[in-house]
Amino acid sequence: MRRLDDFRLKLGQHELVPIMVGGMGVDISSADLALEVARLGGVGHISDAMIKTVTDRRYKTKYVKAKQALYKYNAESDDKSSVKFNLGHLAEATRLHVEGTMTRKQGSGLVFINCMEKLTMNAPKETLKVRMDAAMTAGIDGITLAAGLHLGSLALIEDHPRFRDVKLGIIVSSVRALQLFLKKNARLNRLPDYVVVEGPLAGGHLGFGMDWAEYDLATITTEVLQYLKAEQLDIPVLPAGGIFTGSDAVRFMEMGGAGVQVATRFTVTKECGLPDEVKQEYFKAGEDDIEVNQISPTGYPMRMIKSSPGIGDGIRPNCEAYGYLLDANGKCAYVTAYNREVAAHPGEKRISVMDKTCLCTHMRNFEIWTCGQLTWKLKDTTRKASDGSYQLLSAEHVFKDYQFSTDDTIALPEPA
Ligand SMILES: Cc1cc2nc3c(=O)[nH]c(=O)nc-3n(C[C@H](O)[C@H](O)[C@H](O)COP(=O)(O)O)c2cc1C
Repeated sequence: MRRLDDFRLKLGQHELVPIMVGGMGVDISSADLALEVARLGGVGHISDAMIKTVTDRRYKTKYVKAKQALYKYNAESDDKSSVKFNLGHLAEATRLHVEGTMTRKQGSGLVFINCMEKLTMNAPKETLKVRMDAAMTAGIDGITLAAGLHLGSLALIEDHPRFRDVKLGIIVSSVRALQLFLKKNARLNRLPDYVVVEGPLAGGHLGFGMDWAEYDLATITTEVLQYLKAEQLDIPVLPAGGIFTGSDAVRFMEMGGAGVQVATRFTVTKECGLPDEVKQEYFKAGEDDIEVNQISPTGYPMRMIKSSPGIGDGIRPNCEAYGYLLDANGKCAYVTAYNREVAAHPGEKRISVMDKTCLCTHMRNFEIWTCGQLTWKLKDTTRKASDGSYQLLSAEHVFKDYQFSTDDTIALPEPA
C-alpha cells in the first residue's frame, strides 16, 4: 500500500510533502505550528483573523486598547457604523505577524496566510486589500483566499509587485464556486496556483447550508478535477475535510489530488495556539458533542463543540475593540440579536443570546470551540494518563503519521 510520502505536491518550483495544514483562525494555526510544518517540508498556514489581537498577544503591541479608547464614546450605541479600522495599523499588525513568522522559517516547506473574505471589518474591500498587500510585502509565501467567493479579491492586489510570484490559492466547496472565481478573475490572466476543495466535514465555517450532510468530499473533488481537465487547466487540487489518516490522504491522491489540506488532527498538538485545557476538550468530545449551527454572525454554518462557553452567552458587543465582522454598513448579526434581547428584557443585568454569538470576543478568548467533524476520533490518536487527561502530541508526530502511515493505522506517541 502506498504512503502519502510516495507523492509530492508541486507548486511552481517547489516540491513539497503533500500535506497542507489549513488556516485556523484567531491564532489556532499559530506561527509555531505553521513553521513546524514548513520545517518538515509541507505547507503551514498562519491566519490573519483578528490580526491586531494576535499581534497584541504575541508581539506586545497595544492596537486593541488604542482602538477601544478611540471609540469608547460609542460603546453604548447600537450603531457601530463609525467604528472603523485604522488601515495603517492594520498593515503594521499584518507586517509584524508575517515578518515575525517568516524570519524564523527553516526547511524546504512554505508558510501561507489564510485570508477570510467574511472578515468584512466595516470596510470589506479596503481592509482586505491592506491585509493581502501587507502580507505579500512582509514576505509571505502564499495567500489562501477563504470564507467567501473572492470574486473581486485578486483585482485588489493586481498592482502589487509580488502579484505574480506569491502563491495564490482559493478554497471552494463546489465546482460552481470555482467556475465563478475563474470567470470573474479571467481578465487578470492570473490563475490560482492551487485550489483547496473543502468538503462538509471540515472545521470552522462551512461553504454549505444546513443540508451539509448531503454532500461528500470525494464527489465534489471528482467534479472539480473533471472540470479542470475539461478546461485543460493544470491547477493542483487539495481536498480537505475529514481526512484523518495517511491512508485517507492516499485515497484522495489516487483520485488525482495534488495534496491534502488537514487541520483537526493538529488542534491537539503542542504547537497549536489553543490553550492546553481547551485541547483536552477536543480530546474528550464524543460524536454527539459536535454540532453544526447557525450562531456565527457571518451567516455561514459553523461546526463546534456543543459545550463551547460562548454558545448562548449574552455579552455586550465588543465592536469598539474588535469589530471584525461588521459588514459594509457597519452591521453585525450579533449586535442586532443582542439589542433585540436587551429590549425584550429591560433592566436585566445578564441576558442570553441563543441565535447568534459575539464571534470576535469568543474566538479571541477561545470560548467557541470550532472543530472538524472527526474531532471525536482524536482520543484514539494519543495516550490517556491515569488522571484522565490526554497526552498532547507534537506537530512533527502528527505530520509524520500522515506522511508515513499505511493501512489506516494511526501511530500513538511515545509515552510522555
Ligand atoms: C479549529 C479550526 C479552525 C478553523 N478555522 C479556519 C479558518 O479560520 N479559516 C479557514 O479557511 N478554515 C478554517 N478551518 C478549516 C481548516 O483550515 C481545514 O480546511 C479543515 O478543517 C480540514 O478538515 P479537517 O479538520 O477534518 O482535517 C478551521 C478548522 C479547524 C479545525
